[in-house]
Amino acid sequence: MVRIGARTRRVIARDKKVFLTTTREPYMFVADHGDGDFVYDLEGNRFLDFSSFISVYNLGVNGTPAIRKAVVDQAGKLMHSAFTDYYAELPVEFAENLLKLMPQGFGKMFLSNSGTEANEAAIKFSKLFTGRQYLMAFYNAFHGRSSGSLALTASKTVQREHFGPFSDTVHVPYAYCYRCPLKQTYPDCGFACVDYIRKYPLSKEVSGKEVAAFVLEPIQGEGGYVVPPMDYFKEIKRLADDYGMLLIDDEVQAGYMRTGKFLALDNFGIKADIYTMAKAVGGGLPLGVTIAKRALGDIPSGSHATTFGGNLMSVAAANASIKYILDNRQKLEREVVHKGAIMTKRLMQMKEDYEIIGDVRGIGMMIGVELVKDKKSKGPAIAEREEILNRLFNKGMLVLPAGESSIRLIPPLTISYENLEKGMSMFEDAVASVSKSGARRSGA
Ligand SMILES: Cc1ncc(COP(=O)(O)O)c(C=O)c1O
Repeated sequence: MVRIGARTRRVIARDKKVFLTTTREPYMFVADHGDGDFVYDLEGNRFLDFSSFISVYNLGVNGTPAIRKAVVDQAGKLMHSAFTDYYAELPVEFAENLLKLMPQGFGKMFLSNSGTEANEAAIKFSKLFTGRQYLMAFYNAFHGRSSGSLALTASKTVQREHFGPFSDTVHVPYAYCYRCPLKQTYPDCGFACVDYIRKYPLSKEVSGKEVAAFVLEPIQGEGGYVVPPMDYFKEIKRLADDYGMLLIDDEVQAGYMRTGKFLALDNFGIKADIYTMAKAVGGGLPLGVTIAKRALGDIPSGSHATTFGGNLMSVAAANASIKYILDNRQKLEREVVHKGAIMTKRLMQMKEDYEIIGDVRGIGMMIGVELVKDKKSKGPAIAEREEILNRLFNKGMLVLPAGESSIRLIPPLTISYENLEKGMSMFEDAVASVSKSGARRSGA
């Protein structure tokens, strides 16, 4: 059982005096140190990590020893090289390594410091490449919080309130089949949501000829871990092609092997024109990457740059991390699929056993559980989710919410099988104690 003492309370009280509010979780976790599958708080409480610290620590808490060594070595040489003004070898090596994992014909790329910046760059590049001014994005999407990417984000109104108007983006319904916005049922609907885009936004609001890019997350992350039907993005690609729009794939959360493939969109059998990555790509340090199809060409000098993009500390970590993936790709692919299957099997059983679990969805080790008041009404179980998060914290496990009433289960891809099973049992215990009906199966 986790014990919270005076030191934790003091740090939190001091924090509240000096920092503006962000999106902190309901529980009092003050990070101190960590390694592998576990992280420790200030008072020495140990937590099993099922959050990867917002999808960053895909290779384990605090990265691998090689990542840490690369950062320390680089710190002794040079930390910042003004990479957009001067040249340096390490970012070039990193880019060459990253391109080995990208589809044929990709590169050139741009380096920044975060997911939102990677998407800002993609927005600007798509406008430069096409000479068009509009963008299309999905309801329920999350692409970041700076003004350009926030125009794409339409996950929760609180994220946009006071910051508009946003003029360049047209939002369209996503294939959130558990709560279909058009009240249809897949596959009988024949992708009515894609027909809708053609019939309404593209016939009445914006000319497809003026849309530079359609921006998507292969699995909606912050919006609730929503996985569309496997053929859905083929329809979206067809639509984009019909109007000459580019496809921008935001892999910030779903990419970097999280689904078992380097790019999550590869699960859906299509390719994008521009990919964005951040979070795990930096190996634990801030890095955003925007990678365009080579055939799209280049951008004019001076049209985009950033002081810290490609800084040598982040790139040292990212390069060590990408080398790990290149050296262990097949093993990692196999393990993510296998571990994901173990998680999904247990969660599907739990969905049968507990009224509170409305939907389980995911690919590989990117899995979301949507909690409902009851399966019939599907009313979002918001307070119950908070209780589950708190119970898990008190037992020594970190998980994060997503969407209105979902929980994301995203342990490091390298988690041991023993800790994976332990985490799933802890999750089931928490669900069992909050679910109004349903019983834990003995031995589960
Ligand atoms: C899919 C996606 N895109 C973009 C972002 C924004 O990334 P950052 O917080 O690094 O700006 C996030 C962050 O959660 C994300 O999940």
